[in-house]
Amino acid sequence: MSDRTEPEALPGVTIRPMTETDAAQVLDIYQTGLDDGNASFETTAPTWQAFDAAKLPLHRHVAVDTSTGQVIGWVAASVVSDRCVYAGVVEHSVYVHPDHHGRGVGTALLNALIHSTETEGIWTIQSGIFPENTASLRLHENAGFRVVGTRHHIGRHHDRWRDVVLIERRSMVTGV
Ligand SMILES: CC(C)(COP(=O)(O)OP(=O)(O)OC[C@H]1O[C@@H](n2cnc3c(N)ncnc32)[C@H](O)[C@@H]1OP(=O)(O)O)[C@@H](O)C(=O)NCCC(=O)NCCS
Repeated sequence: MSDRTEPEALPGVTIRPMTETDAAQVLDIYQTGLDDGNASFETTAPTWQAFDAAKLPLHRHVAVDTSTGQVIGWVAASVVSDRCVYAGVVEHSVYVHPDHHGRGVGTALLNALIHSTETEGIWTIQSGIFPENTASLRLHENAGFRVVGTRHHIGRHHDRWRDVVLIERRSMVTGV
């Protein structure tokens, strides 16, 4: 089991496990990211009940601004399949409040997710990114994700076809 010890984050930022009391701030940040138009095919953040049901309890973290106590970002992972063979594969989302972009919060959150998943023996973290989302592509490349490939016009979003870049990070510590 995880000891829930998180790696050191940024000065002025604490990374800690997400709790139900964070729900409103987490979903607000989620909606703000969706409104930007390059985060996801989704257009509306889920209810907390749906979010809570979908995200793995040990692999959801928030970034908190230590001077204000506000949640400024979050990361969370879901299972990709109920087949045993994929037990070590998760799909994640990471969202940072726009007022705090570009100061390393996304990197700190991703590091926390990598740490918690590797502690639990998860061997692959995967996600899909719109090619236009250069910040996310850079963030994930820096964290050791590789591009698996690009799916052409895989879905429609706001009345236009969008490509999705599939990315994955294989753990170096799970021995797989
Ligand atoms: C993607 C996102 C999580 C990045 O978070 P962040 O806290 O700004 O990221 P960081 O500050 O840790 O920066 C990570 C890297 O991305 C780069 N980056 C940040 N914003 C960038 C931008 N607009 N364009 C290009 N690169 C950018 C940083 O320079 C850094 O790379 P570097 O260290 O090589 O310079 C954030 O932009 C976000 O929440 N976007 C909306 C939601 C979203 O798109 N989530 C991802 C869905 S796949």
